[in-house]
Amino acid sequence: MSARRIALCLLLTLVCASVSGCGDNIDWAAKGATDEEYPVEYYSLGEAVYEDSCASCHGAGGSGSFGPQLRGKGHKYSYEDQRTLIERGRRSMPGFASSLSSTEIDALLAYIRVGFFVNDAE
Ligand code: HEC
Repeated sequence: MSARRIALCLLLTLVCASVSGCGDNIDWAAKGATDEEYPVEYYSLGEAVYEDSCASCHGAGGSGSFGPQLRGKGHKYSYEDQRTLIERGRRSMPGFASSLSSTEIDALLAYIRVGFFVNDAE
């Protein structure tokens, strides 16, 4: 193999590695809860809202199904970014700004960022 071909192979390998690095193959769930604190009553309200509005696509406890798994995603999105995503939706994810109250969305964020893991400990 010529030096040129070897260089080309190396380059292609690097490009492939960096492209797959862009895909979300991070184990978010292993990162657990964020260190935020929420009023304790938000977890049960958030869980009820989640089961009504989100579990059909994101699975029980955020395990994922049609939509991506949500456990540990508080480390992928800031509170504000995650809230905006839930309010506005994105691609095949519907927005919830008009169907949920702002208290329900507060509680939902508490549940998906921390509550998934609080419930695990019980
Ligand atoms: C009709 C199915 C559906 C429902 C209902 C739904 N989602 Fe989604 N959700 C999706 C899909 C599909 C995506 C991926 C969107 C994309 O590819 O941009 C997504 C993405 C997300 C993301 C970003 C995940 C990531 O890893 O980037 C969050 C957070 C999220 N949804 C939260 C919620 C919450 C909270 C609810 C309930 C209020 C909800 N979703 C209801 C389908 C749904």
